[in-house]
Amino acid sequence: MLNYETIKKIMFNFEPETAHTIAECGLKALPYCRLLNNYMVKENFINHPMLKQEIFGTTFQNPIGLGAGFDKNATMIKAMPAMGFGYTEIGTMTPRPQPGNDKPRLFRYPEYNSIQNAMGFNNKGSYEVISNLKKLYPFALPIGASIGKNKNTPEDKALDDYETLIKGFKDICDYMVVNISSPNTPNLRDLQNEEFIKAVFGMAKEITDTPILLKIAPDMADETAIELCKTAVQSGADGIIATNTTQDYSLLPNPKDFGGLSGEVLSEKSYLLFKALGKELHDKTTLISVGGIGDAKDAYRRIKAGASLIQIYSAFIFQGPSMCKNINNELIELLKADGYNNISEAIGADFKN
Ligand SMILES: Cc1cc2nc3c(=O)[nH]c(=O)nc-3n(C[C@H](O)[C@H](O)[C@H](O)COP(=O)(O)O)c2cc1C
Repeated sequence: MLNYETIKKIMFNFEPETAHTIAECGLKALPYCRLLNNYMVKENFINHPMLKQEIFGTTFQNPIGLGAGFDKNATMIKAMPAMGFGYTEIGTMTPRPQPGNDKPRLFRYPEYNSIQNAMGFNNKGSYEVISNLKKLYPFALPIGASIGKNKNTPEDKALDDYETLIKGFKDICDYMVVNISSPNTPNLRDLQNEEFIKAVFGMAKEITDTPILLKIAPDMADETAIELCKTAVQSGADGIIATNTTQDYSLLPNPKDFGGLSGEVLSEKSYLLFKALGKELHDKTTLISVGGIGDAKDAYRRIKAGASLIQIYSAFIFQGPSMCKNINNELIELLKADGYNNISEAIGADFKN
């Protein structure tokens, strides 16, 4: 069988979006190749008792999830156990279909294990994604639905978009994420303010008990992020996901001057903001850390800083289907070395005596 280094060499000859489309075709087909799929699940999916947790009323066999943006239309969720993921976050979906920003809008920086994207919520719209999901139900893994406003929805109507999306996804996923942190929808990040956060979570709690989280950007002061996240939790948010991509272009020598950076260059920035949030909130809500994670040591420091769960997007592109297995196996060793019986005991360990 071809190893991932060889597959990557071939795939990296294509434009990143073309490579993504090829990968999507392969991952859509994988579950129908029963023997190969079963072999890959057995090989890559770790379900060790030390990693198992009950969160959001459902079971997470391992803490490594696929970050939002890879499976925007929920077409690949059946293949994710074979990739080793313990859960997957689909989207970001908008109420109406939209094409996203002009191309090119996706760039690789392999020497930095990093990516820059300005996709702009290209997706088939909530109606089609919900019907995709219904066809795929029941799911093998917990599913989160990331939701965002359409580009052409004015800011003063943004709440209506989130209301439509929450009503649409509430019964077909394990949790939802209010995404107001993408840098690629004009003025979206302006919604990261107390008034909107109070309004959106207040509205959500009137509609459903399905857990709803807030995903934030890394490009703000720790104090600002802490205040916004506290407001979200007080208004009914069930957790925080930190962080989205960064607009700090100083992290890379020759970046584009648009879009958001992810992968290795984001790791330290994302970790530091996450740790500041963890200090304040690890015992008050569920925290998910994402941003530049590519190995078990980084995943473990996020867990000790308060993360119940981890998400990864960019490193999956560079490391492929063995990534989750490697991280999960090493996490077990790290937990054992520190004398823990289960991952839940290590969450927020940095802040306990
Ligand atoms: C091509 C691409 C598209 C993305 N699209 C979304 C999205 O639609 N919604 C979202 O919340 N985050 C999106 N993200 C951000 C990721 O979910 C994640 O927060 C970010 O990439 C940092 O994690 P990483 O360093 O592991 O990639 C996207 C990232 C990439 C690289």
